[in-house]
Amino acid sequence: MAKGTNGKEYETWSKEELIKEIVKIKSTTYGLVWHRDLPEEKIDTLINPDARTPNEMFPNEMAGKPFPVLKEVKGKEIESDKSKLVNLLIEGDNYHALAVLNFTHFEAIDLIYIDPPYNKGRKDFIYNDKIVEKEDPYVHSKWLAFMEKRLKLAKNLLKEDGLMLISIDDKEFAQLKLLADEIFGEQNLICNFVWRTDGNFDNQAKVKICHEYILAYAKNSNIFKAPALVDPNVPKGSKIYKYEIRNTIVKNGPKNPVSEVLLPKGFPALFESGVIKKRSSQWPQFKNDVLVKNGKLENEAYISSGWSSKELLNDFIVAGFKEVADQKGQLTKFVLTETGAVEAVKIRSEYQSHVLSVLNNLGNTQSTSSWLADLDVNFDYPKPIELLKYLVRLSNNKDAVILDFFAGSGSTAHAVLEVNKEFGGKRTFILCTNNGDSKSEHKIASEICYPRIKKVITGYKNKKGRTIDGLGGNLKYYTTDFVEAEPTDRNKRKLVKESTDMLCILENAFEPIQETPEFKIFKNTDKYVGVIFYEEAIEDYKKTIKKIDGHFNTYVFSMGDDPHATKFADVKSKVTLCAIPEVILKVYREIFK
Ligand SMILES: C[S@@+](CC[C@H](N)C(=O)[O-])C[C@H]1O[C@@H](n2cnc3c(N)ncnc32)[C@H](O)[C@@H]1O
Repeated sequence: MAKGTNGKEYETWSKEELIKEIVKIKSTTYGLVWHRDLPEEKIDTLINPDARTPNEMFPNEMAGKPFPVLKEVKGKEIESDKSKLVNLLIEGDNYHALAVLNFTHFEAIDLIYIDPPYNKGRKDFIYNDKIVEKEDPYVHSKWLAFMEKRLKLAKNLLKEDGLMLISIDDKEFAQLKLLADEIFGEQNLICNFVWRTDGNFDNQAKVKICHEYILAYAKNSNIFKAPALVDPNVPKGSKIYKYEIRNTIVKNGPKNPVSEVLLPKGFPALFESGVIKKRSSQWPQFKNDVLVKNGKLENEAYISSGWSSKELLNDFIVAGFKEVADQKGQLTKFVLTETGAVEAVKIRSEYQSHVLSVLNNLGNTQSTSSWLADLDVNFDYPKPIELLKYLVRLSNNKDAVILDFFAGSGSTAHAVLEVNKEFGGKRTFILCTNNGDSKSEHKIASEICYPRIKKVITGYKNKKGRTIDGLGGNLKYYTTDFVEAEPTDRNKRKLVKESTDMLCILENAFEPIQETPEFKIFKNTDKYVGVIFYEEAIEDYKKTIKKIDGHFNTYVFSMGDDPHATKFADVKSKVTLCAIPEVILKVYREIFK
């Protein structure tokens, strides 16, 4: 007998139940219907999964219930460079983490990449604290219910020009596509990328599957702009050489800039062996003799050359004096000839600088696992760093905030740090992953993801004993936590502490400058952030900031709605009054009333 979405046979339903069921089914735009009446996840009772704004996350009927927050794990912070922003690693359930990020990063994320469990019955997927087995009759429904709630909260975090990327394989592709169409809007689908993988090695398989998908949705496809990225199949110099573009001298008008470049020893030259003599009367000019042996420079060499743009020169050098594709995909081959001339030869290109829908030549999972083992990180299905570096660059913003809430071994963090190093920019990452799943006793967040990020930031010795330099950066480590609603002194203290932490996360300002029971001041790379706990402390706060040079984003906790502008009139030029996210304020008022 046919059963409804709640698993009960239709014949036994009342008229009201049947009407409700029809309304529910008809309300889905794309006809994706599944058993939604599954047991709720624990956290469902605390968060409104249909919230479109942070305020809707905790409707009034939820007042009085525990409030989700993030709690810093002291001693796990990594600090290697105060001039850089701070990245975040959150250990815990991502649904909880996404709820808190809705207070701190509402419409503030440029790019989200996730690699959720593919639901293959490999004991990789937990719903309502239980592993979902391959044979579970609700195997797809549970996965969809789990994904729907998380994707809805994630969508709120994207900036208007932001991009959502989701890795998936054939098992849930069709279901995910319909779900994502419904959440993000079909018109915002940018591409179903096909990523060429090495494939499985199952001899019984009728077809060797050697691709996965990456679904890409813009928050708003009218606003999202795809960057011009060269197809990864375009040959690259196998090594990145450090070089320095010294000056750009404008000769013969701004259209003819001349750049002086220091090419280091070992840099590839495109002829085998010989010497280009020092010269100043002919372009390009060489400030010293350029010695070449077996296609490599034997000495450091200054070259001054006329280039139509510094960017092109930069591309040329990054490409190892080989080929670069311009914005239109036209490939240019540069040749440093034996006479010392640098010749640019345009060649017809089959390569594109458009982003292509098939992603080739971007690493594979197997080789990544063994590469990670060299870092002493053991994780079964990591995504290759090459793939993630490419995906990270799909955001046009060089200072993008990038979120991965199924972070696993932390490949996204690794990619963000490498992309900053290679291409410049101040991208930061926020990662969330739970600490251990059913298939292993591994503590993924604390024993796999965190140590990997730490090694990549601070440097490490690989298995062969070679020292690998750190990429630099900072990190704070949080776990998911709750503040109970009963207005006890302990809960009040905890709420004030955790709310302050959330404002620090929102502002990316963590360096304590002044801490009193009434207010706290923190610093980030370019400004100060002040949090005042009681209106009565405003005067003392002002006295303190007058002694410090700099600008202060200031938050005032209070029971009323007064924006306090008049109280700050005398320090107007050095203070920006900021609104505390309404949800945090609501809970504060609830507990302090
Ligand atoms: C397929 S792996 C991601 C691998 C990752 N892309 C990498 O390269 O290492 C998915 C990860 O998400 C984690 N995970 C699954 N459900 C989660 C949840 N509800 N909250 C947080 N993390 C979760 C799993 O423990 C697993 O580590």
